[in-house]
Amino acid sequence: MTKLKWRTAITDHVDKEPYLRGYRLLDLVGKYSFSQVAYLALKGELPTPAEARVLDAMFVSVIDHGVAVPSVVADRVVISGGNPLHVGVAAGILTFGEAHGGAIESAARVFQRTAALEGEVADLARERVAQSRAKKERLPGFGHRYYKEADPRTAKMFAIAKEENFYGRHCALAEAMMVELKAQTGRSLVLNVDGGIAAIISDMGFDWRLGKGFFIIGRTVGLVAHGYEELTRERPFRRLTEDEMTYDGVPPRSLPEK
Ligand SMILES: CC(C)(COP(=O)(O)OP(=O)(O)OC[C@H]1O[C@@H](n2cnc3c(N)ncnc32)[C@H](O)[C@@H]1OP(=O)(O)O)[C@@H](O)C(=O)NCCC(=O)NCCS
Repeated sequence: MTKLKWRTAITDHVDKEPYLRGYRLLDLVGKYSFSQVAYLALKGELPTPAEARVLDAMFVSVIDHGVAVPSVVADRVVISGGNPLHVGVAAGILTFGEAHGGAIESAARVFQRTAALEGEVADLARERVAQSRAKKERLPGFGHRYYKEADPRTAKMFAIAKEENFYGRHCALAEAMMVELKAQTGRSLVLNVDGGIAAIISDMGFDWRLGKGFFIIGRTVGLVAHGYEELTRERPFRRLTEDEMTYDGVPPRSLPEK
């Protein structure tokens, strides 16, 4: 029988010590920040100070967004059912889908594939928006339940990306698409935090398939905080109250005669 072999270019053990991307882990400890080492793990090289600052800005931007979002509700409800911290946090992470955090991947794919085409950003944006409208598709990374004029998190991240020279063709394309969406739909569909991260990581040279990872890393901190608060401050068994639900099925009725 052949022996199952695993391959990795991420970590190794040398003389019983862990190495990350070729660097001795203990040499990194105390010298590099969490974001810098996260960059090393994800990209394979240590970041420049500019890359580290932009990555840090993205992690901080997504750390929390209130108690009512699907991931925090799931986290707290699962813990409230009598489960430990990690189970609640895992439940929260499982809610990350296209409408919540998960659009980074698909938005980065759209930006990377469109920006790779020849042409001016404004023309590419017009064509890509028209294409999605013809297919009746929602463009990932645009629109927000609360923010109708601008997503302030995207604005802040873009300002930092500009200061550090990471506002390139992908960020410009993303903003041009937002303008086109308004022109073609008449709706204000802001470039949301997922779309902002998707554009910046694309300008930083990350593969779109890593997209959701940036949201997972940042938001998990928030989920741990919420889970811990639920565990230590709230009584178990959260449930909806009668005035929070409606029954719209058939009224009470008798069983049919046998
Ligand atoms: C985030 C989102 C769920 C917010 O939705 P919302 O503000 O409550 O808006 P609704 O889902 O009620 O949609 C309202 C209208 O805008 C349109 N719309 C919303 N987002 C759109 C998008 N990204 N692209 C195209 N049209 C969009 C809808 O089709 C709908 O049109 P209709 O009324 O003609 O059917 C929504 O904008 C979306 O699905 N965006 C794409 C996914 C995404 O980026 N998610 C990450 C969020 S941080």
